[in-house]
Amino acid sequence: MAAEKNKEKVVLAYSGGLDTSVMVKWLQLEKNLDVVAICGNVGQDAQDLTWIEKKALGMGAVYSKALDMRSEYAEDFLTKAIAANGMYEDTYPLLSALSRPLIVKHLVDIAHETGASYICHGCTGKGNDQVRFESSIHALDPELKILAPVREWDLHTREDEMEWAKQHGVPVPTTAAKPYSLDENLWGRAIECGALEDPWKEAPADIYTLTADPMSAPDEPEEVVLGFEQGKPVSLNGKKMDLLSLIIKMNKIAGKHGYGRLDMIEDRVVGIKSHEVYECPGSLAIINMHKALETMCLDGVTLQYKHMIDQQWATTVYNGLWYSQLKQALDAFCADTQKFVTGQVKAKFYKGSMTVTGRKSAYSLYDYSLATYGEGDTFDRSASKGFIELHTLAATTWSKTQGPAAEYELQKQSENVHVA
Ligand code: ARG
Repeated sequence: MAAEKNKEKVVLAYSGGLDTSVMVKWLQLEKNLDVVAICGNVGQDAQDLTWIEKKALGMGAVYSKALDMRSEYAEDFLTKAIAANGMYEDTYPLLSALSRPLIVKHLVDIAHETGASYICHGCTGKGNDQVRFESSIHALDPELKILAPVREWDLHTREDEMEWAKQHGVPVPTTAAKPYSLDENLWGRAIECGALEDPWKEAPADIYTLTADPMSAPDEPEEVVLGFEQGKPVSLNGKKMDLLSLIIKMNKIAGKHGYGRLDMIEDRVVGIKSHEVYECPGSLAIINMHKALETMCLDGVTLQYKHMIDQQWATTVYNGLWYSQLKQALDAFCADTQKFVTGQVKAKFYKGSMTVTGRKSAYSLYDYSLATYGEGDTFDRSASKGFIELHTLAATTWSKTQGPAAEYELQKQSENVHVA
C-alpha cells in the first residue's frame, strides 16, 4: 500500500458508480484521508468486477478490492432468510436489507486490518440503506467513525456531481443517467424512483432484466422439485447442489417463466412510503416452496406462531438490526422449528405464476389414516362430540350470559309482555 504516513484511512463501500467514484476523490481532497475502496460481490449483474478495483486505484485509492461474498451471503444470510420466510410486509424478500450487514462485516474487518478509523458509504439521507450500514457498523465496532458524504456535500443534482467529477479527474459516465435507483444481488433486483414515483402508473416494461414478460413466457409449464434439509434447500430436480448454485439456477428457471415480479407500496424505516418494484424469481420461489413444506412438517399452532415470528424477523432485518439481540433470538426460534423441515416440494411455473403441486417428507405430520374419508380411516368420530362441547364451553357460557343467546332470551321476554 502506498499510504502516506500518519494519514488516516477510510474504508469506502465502493460500487464503481458515479456517486462512490466522486467519493474516492472527495475523501482525499475534502477529508484528507487515504481511501481503501472495497466492492462486495453479492451476485450483482457483472461477473468480473476487477474493473472496479482498477477504477478506484486510478483515482488515487491506496488499495482496492472486489470481494466475492456470494457463498457467504447464501450460507450465512439467505439460509436464515429462508428459515424465517423473510418477507417484509409479507411481500418483499429483503434483498437489499440482507446484503448490507454482510458487506459491512467485510468493511469492518478491512478497517481493522488496515488500521482505518473511518467507514464511508454512498447512501442517501432518505433511505433504509444508510440505517442498515450505520447500525451494522455501530454493532460490529462502535469505535469506527462513519462518513456519509451524500448527506453532507453540496452536490445536490447529478449535473453538480458530473461537473465536480470533470473538474477533479473522476471518469464521468458516457451513457445517459439511469432513470432509476437500482440494487441487485442473488436474492433479486430492486427498482425505485424515476417513472415509478407515480404509484398509479404501470411500471415500464423495459425495467425488468431478471424476469421475462409473463405474456411472452414459454407456453409449456415447467415443473421443479426442490429438496430441503432442516429448512435449507439442498437439491434441485434431484441434483444435490450448494445453495449459491441452487439460487443462481432457480433465478434462471423462474425468471424464464416471468415469475417473481412485485409492485408495492412499502414503508421505509424513516417514515416515508415509497413505490417499489422488484424482481425476485429465485427468492420468491424458494421461500414459497419452503413455506409449503413447513405446512406439512410443523403443527398448526407452531405454524401460526411462527408466522408472527417471521414477520418480526423481516421487520427487524428491514430496519437494519441484523446484528441485534432480538434478531439472534428470532433466529434461534426459527432454527428450532426447522429441525424436521426436511423433504421435497414440487411446483410448476407457468406464465408469471408458480403453483405448488406436491410435497413429501419423512417427518410429515399429514397422516393419511386420519385425513382420509375413504378406506383405512382411523379417526375416532365418537370423540368429536365431547371435544366440541368442551371446545365451545367458554363461548357458550358467554353467549348465554352476555351474547346472542342472552339477547334472544330478552327479546322473547319482551314479546311475551307485549302479547299479554
Ligand atoms: N426499498 C428496498 C429496501 O429498502 C430496496 C432498496 C434498494 N436500494 C437502492 N439503492 N435502490 O430494502
